[in-house]
Amino acid sequence: MKIKELINKWKPIKRYVVLISFILSFTTFALVLWVILLQRNLHLFKWNPSQAKTFLIICLVAVIIPLGFISDFVIRLKKLKIPKKIPGKYIYVIVLAGIILTGAYIVYLKPYHHVGDKAPELMIIDQPGISGYPNLAVIFYTQKASTNYLTFGSTSEMTIRLNEQQKTKIHVFVLEDLVADTQYFYQINGEGTVYNFTYFPSSTDNLRFAVSSDPHIGAEDNNITATKLILEQISSPDNGYSAFFCLGDIVEMGNDDSQYKEQIDFFSKYTTLIPYRNVIGNHDGWFGGVDFWKEYFYPKKAPNNSSDSQLWHQYDFGPNIHVFTLDLEWGTETYTKAQQEWFENRLKTLNPDDWIIIMNHAYYYASSTEYDGVPWYDNQDMINTFHDLFLENGVDLVFSGHDHQMEHINQDGVNYFIVGTMGGILDLDPTYFTENSLFFDNTHFGFADLQFNDGNITVSFRTPENRLLYEITIQQ
Ligand SMILES: [Fe+2]
Ligand SMILES: [Fe+2]
Repeated sequence: MKIKELINKWKPIKRYVVLISFILSFTTFALVLWVILLQRNLHLFKWNPSQAKTFLIICLVAVIIPLGFISDFVIRLKKLKIPKKIPGKYIYVIVLAGIILTGAYIVYLKPYHHVGDKAPELMIIDQPGISGYPNLAVIFYTQKASTNYLTFGSTSEMTIRLNEQQKTKIHVFVLEDLVADTQYFYQINGEGTVYNFTYFPSSTDNLRFAVSSDPHIGAEDNNITATKLILEQISSPDNGYSAFFCLGDIVEMGNDDSQYKEQIDFFSKYTTLIPYRNVIGNHDGWFGGVDFWKEYFYPKKAPNNSSDSQLWHQYDFGPNIHVFTLDLEWGTETYTKAQQEWFENRLKTLNPDDWIIIMNHAYYYASSTEYDGVPWYDNQDMINTFHDLFLENGVDLVFSGHDHQMEHINQDGVNYFIVGTMGGILDLDPTYFTENSLFFDNTHFGFADLQFNDGNITVSFRTPENRLLYEITIQQ
């Protein structure tokens, strides 16, 4: 029997059923295409063999269903004379199973699905202010578009009012012309909490940064108590921190907006009180999570002086302290040509004698072990791409997370610090120690403390209770 002959023998309803079933047999295939097009997932599969296996099974199913449909059709067409029995009934069952599998995977991932308002945070933005420090922006998200206003000022009267002109979901209020060493108050829509913070100190000698990474909010095994204690230490006025940097893996699965909601609502109590900047980690970005990340932490409408990306920036603190935040999630996989050109050009313009500090998620040198057969120590791609560049351009300090430990490595005078201890489950004991490791700890949660002082920087690792674990002073 020929196809045309067969189709002519079918009732119109059967024609539609077969056509629609054939189209639907590609449902799982479409899912696979979507996952592949989100490039960050390919990096996930490279680093995580068990996720890769699951995805491989989905790929097989995606190919088998349409192939099964077609071969069943062809074989029956050759053998059978009864048009009613083509295609076999089990084909509909298989197509339905593919749709259910795809639906279940999407329900599991919940991509692009916003689950509610996100609380405000006081973000450091890539725009120089009049005091020689970066401007700040109060950023928050509302599920429904709305117009809001913010009042702020150096007295509790908060005489400066910033209005939104149009309804929007993403709200960015830039606080400009802030004066060093001054306490500011701000409030949203003239009601609720009056937040206050102190802008950066008059002298960069009194700057003090807190850095931590990898809280993994939303994971089943993260230590939320440690995260909370660290946030309390960092935001406490008694401790005098000028800024807080969080280096990624802020949530466990960035595609699940309920985790971002939980994370931001939790952090907001503290990150409305201290200038705050986070960078993207591998967990934050996968399965479309990068879009949430950009909307919540560096929206397009936030001023961006140094780059045209929402993921990499330069922040200057006075004339001599430069902090770069880079998009290095697993390693160099996200180090695009555009990012490389930008970074190398920016480095070239700086005096190598200035303090140049790099902050990003993925580690460079690191002690660790293998997970699923993949080594999580010395990332040779990162080392080959960056170490010489750092040496040539006078980079002094490099902070990262990704490995859940505290470590200090001095490699040829470049000081690498890993501080992935903000609450994500701590890493296993290393089976490999990197050569120039000066301090390693995988038994405590904690954060790093950078104190600028008279041309030196003292970096210490501290527990969530603020107990000193390690301290080193780095001379310029
Ligand atoms: Fe992590
Ligand atoms: Fe990570």
